[in-house]
Amino acid sequence: MAKDQQISDSHAVLKRHVVLVGLMGAGKSAIGRRVASRIGARFRDADTEIEKAAGMRISDIFAVHGEAEFRTGERRVIARLLLGKPAVLATGGGAYMDDTTRALLKDGATTIWMRAELDTLVRRCAKRANRPLLRDGNPREILRKLMEVRYPIYGEADITIESRDEPHEFAVDAIVDILRERGDLIA
Ligand code: S3P
Repeated sequence: MAKDQQISDSHAVLKRHVVLVGLMGAGKSAIGRRVASRIGARFRDADTEIEKAAGMRISDIFAVHGEAEFRTGERRVIARLLLGKPAVLATGGGAYMDDTTRALLKDGATTIWMRAELDTLVRRCAKRANRPLLRDGNPREILRKLMEVRYPIYGEADITIESRDEPHEFAVDAIVDILRERGDLIA
């Protein structure tokens, strides 16, 4: 991407929230943060916001209160973030599976599914041991099962971007181009 195009992107106006969905390790936060920085928009990470609201780490929320309580908090935090000025939002892997959240996102955001192959997810998730869902069992097997259940639902997102092991810049360029084509990003 040429430097002058990047400068013009940073003066653009985002008309609608852009929300990244997809499995753990798909690169939602890494790509979302870079898209936001490129277009001069705010970036929000739903997991970080949940941790701030609860005053504890996600792994502790799961351990102390259980997954159902975490999902309630996740639903509430995402609804609140959507009330703010249009921003780029990375969500945790289960967020889009929640019927209420999915309906809110379909209504008030452009959703992007960061789709990745199993090997890629397994490799990336192995770098961090902070994901409660991957602790009880074989991470590859757990991710494979989650793919079966979740990929058909993630497929309802407005846009699908392949998350490959290539420079982040490629996915960022593709997303910014699509946002312009859709009229979500103007000027
Ligand atoms: C989860 C994904 C995690 C986090 C929580 C549950 C999931 O976020 O929200 O551990 O259900 O897939 P990332 O997708 O950012 O790892």
